[in-house]
Amino acid sequence: MVSRIIPVDPFDLIIFGGTGDLARRKILPGLFRRFCAGQMPNNARIIGAARSTLSAEQYKAQIGTAISEFGNVTGNQAKQLNAFLAQLDYVKIDVKGEDGWRNLASKVRKNFVNAHYFSVAPSLFGDIAKRLNHWQIATPDSRIVVEKPFGRDLESSQKLNASLAAQFDEGQIYRIDHYLGKETVQNLMAVRFGNVLFEPLWNAQYIDHIQITVAETVGVGGRGAYYDTSGAMRDMVQNHLMQLLCLIAMEPPARFDPDAVRDEKLKVIRALGDVKPHEIVRGQYDGALDAQSYRQDVENPRSFTESYLCLKAHIENWRWSGVPFYLRTGKKLKERSSEIAIVFKKLPHSIFKDSGEAKNNVLAIRLQPNEGMTMDVTIKEPGPGGMRLIQLPLDMTFSEVLGDTAHDAPDAYERLIMDVIRGNQTLFMRGDEVEAAWTWTDPIINAWEARNDVPKIYETGSSGPDDANLLMDRDGRQWRDIT
Ligand code: BG6
Repeated sequence: MVSRIIPVDPFDLIIFGGTGDLARRKILPGLFRRFCAGQMPNNARIIGAARSTLSAEQYKAQIGTAISEFGNVTGNQAKQLNAFLAQLDYVKIDVKGEDGWRNLASKVRKNFVNAHYFSVAPSLFGDIAKRLNHWQIATPDSRIVVEKPFGRDLESSQKLNASLAAQFDEGQIYRIDHYLGKETVQNLMAVRFGNVLFEPLWNAQYIDHIQITVAETVGVGGRGAYYDTSGAMRDMVQNHLMQLLCLIAMEPPARFDPDAVRDEKLKVIRALGDVKPHEIVRGQYDGALDAQSYRQDVENPRSFTESYLCLKAHIENWRWSGVPFYLRTGKKLKERSSEIAIVFKKLPHSIFKDSGEAKNNVLAIRLQPNEGMTMDVTIKEPGPGGMRLIQLPLDMTFSEVLGDTAHDAPDAYERLIMDVIRGNQTLFMRGDEVEAAWTWTDPIINAWEARNDVPKIYETGSSGPDDANLLMDRDGRQWRDIT
């Protein structure tokens, strides 16, 4: 199968924080891959803007090194690196002062799409937004791109949204949740709304429960200071897992357009019920063998921040009444494995009483690694000896069924940046969604802070704390293996 590449319109992309970690590891290597794929036009330009004193040539050299290091560059692509770097420029800028802005204003072309990526601390978003207008760099068609964390609670997220709304319309603000850019996450919508098979079963009558797992093997890396004030709830659940939950639970939007989709997601978040203390397990990893503990990693010997969280969420509406959504995420677990599992109800009656117990059908949507889907179905074990039932997966591992198309798919950042240039907000979070998500998480976090909740210890390389299993045992269910 051949993938179709549609080039985007020429653009100027300004990356504030252009020398930072995200720019070097994700944004610029991603843009380079789009360049190699023929999606980035030759007259597009990327301007790095940061505090360091650098010439454009020095910046290009720095980014060239970063792309070679983080970009998974193949032999053929390496030949194109210089042509890509030729489209880069650099401006030394003070985002809290006025230095550098005149220079930036002189470089940005008003007749092209211009997009401004705020790859900086959220406390600087308002300053940059204001100056983009003050220096008349922004046009009514400009886009700004911002990254999480969008606040750490409802109040701070409202302030952040207000500081952006004072300068830009909601239709110009692209809040990235990179999970929405993942190939399989979009496939979730294709599966639900592109097939007649699933939607009639997609409700409390046929679905027993849903499990959403994002398991990581990595720890907090060099981000200990940020992570320790955040924890798994703020870092992963409030955004990435919440977005996955929304896509599974939302009503079919009338059209695949940004506001139709986001309106439906918002209704789901607003329908989330309270989570009781016994429906949550917080965990923190301890070192196994010579591995470091979480507290050593974040250099805080008294930290009570969770590096693992699982909880049972309820969506209080007609479709999902009584169907628990179990969410689980954690760092330093045994495998990197993210999946959504839709576990269907047992048969109302089995005619094969002596042939083994009928198992639940499970539709598992694998986000990473080995993107794809499996559907566990019951069949007859082949061969003589009467009717013996076994369960096997209908397996659609994308790399197997789609070949190179699956391998060449753009990663989340690449796709989302191209969507910014195309002006498509479908896969970006709207301000009201972010605020609604905090409205749900705030009381949960406040409750455990008020009772000085101590996270349960789990061993590095395990599946998480033992109490996570109790959460399921109580309901007569089981977590799927993290594999
Ligand atoms: C980020 C979190 O948003 O997502 C990180 O801040 C986490 O803590 C990362 O590791 C996971 O992303 P991915 O794409 O590797 O699953």
